Amino acid sequence: ANDGLAPTPPMGWNSWNKFACNGINETLIKQTADALVSSGLAAVGYVNLTLDDCWSAATRDSSGNLRADPNKFPSGMKAIGDYIHSKGLKYGIYASIGTATCTGKTPGSMDHENQDVAKFASWGVDYIKADRCNVPTGADLAELFGRWLPAIRASGRPIVLSASDNGGVQEPWSWGPYAAHQWRTTGDIRDNWARVLSVFDGNARFPGATVPGGFNDPDMLEIGNGGLTDTEYRSHMGLWALVSSPLIAGNDVRSMSSATKAILTHPEVLDIDQDALAYQAIKAADDGAGRQVWYKPTRQRGARAVGLFNRGDSTATISVSWSQIGLSAGSATVRDVWARADRGTFTNAYSVNVPAHGLALLRIVGTDPPLVSGYLSDQPWAYS
Ligand code: DGJ
Repeated sequence: ANDGLAPTPPMGWNSWNKFACNGINETLIKQTADALVSSGLAAVGYVNLTLDDCWSAATRDSSGNLRADPNKFPSGMKAIGDYIHSKGLKYGIYASIGTATCTGKTPGSMDHENQDVAKFASWGVDYIKADRCNVPTGADLAELFGRWLPAIRASGRPIVLSASDNGGVQEPWSWGPYAAHQWRTTGDIRDNWARVLSVFDGNARFPGATVPGGFNDPDMLEIGNGGLTDTEYRSHMGLWALVSSPLIAGNDVRSMSSATKAILTHPEVLDIDQDALAYQAIKAADDGAGRQVWYKPTRQRGARAVGLFNRGDSTATISVSWSQIGLSAGSATVRDVWARADRGTFTNAYSVNVPAHGLALLRIVGTDPPLVSGYLSDQPWAYS
């Protein structure tokens, strides 16, 4: 939604990928808030701390309000929000657009949208993840998700809305840009390589929907959860940055390895994700054998963020030519983003060895006026 609340992809942490329904409680959330700050994740942008499914009680209260599961959040939902805010973080909460949440154990918000959002606002909520489960057969998701931003406006509180159309059914890019600030485009990510690839590919179906203010969402990060190698986790991070995805960490930030922390907080990778143009990278080349080139323009004339992605099972040399990424023939500078090292100036193309399942992440900047040869090149205004 073009309302200024999410000019660049939202960043934060969410309880689901690591903890699901087990272990979400006051202690975990407070310790996570502490760790987001002490680890430095908050300082680089991971500020939305979201409680996913299983925070609420099985029934509404006598006034029809959602309420905390008293065993998990004995101090109540306002108190946990106050704690989150006391750390300088933002408070995110989970709800469902249907009649029950996805675990099926707790009430959904269908036909209670205004009441529930008003209650969330009174607790100080800054970010809502509205999930898609237990909706009536044949329901129009554009209509059901479309109830939430008006409810947020009516609450008077600026709240970012994540539309969790898990499954990516009913073309989320056809309503997401109007209804939300981010919208899921695929089924759930899992902490295995095949699944990371499939959600990445599913999210590539309609890159044009991502603009400043609203983002295709290939789901939250699995970095640090143990199912991938660090090379694969770096690819996961780099690919999500290339497509300007929301970056919602999903690991136990209280006890992460230094490698996990380095991947999540790499400043130049975050710069690619948070680039103000918010373009979603597209695939420029694919040799059919697992070698792919992905790129997006970034906010500097002639600048490209480029990923040379090796999906194969052995090291491969991958090349990118300037013509594949919309630069004119001639010289361009190449920087290796993960290494934070300039590689020099190259003519027309660049090649590099990429390990199996690895992603070489590059910044390539054309040094000539970066217009494809002949295209409007006689128009002086095209250069200004
Ligand atoms: C489905 C969503 O895609 C997940 O991220 C998580 O929110 C679960 N539902 C919770 O039940």
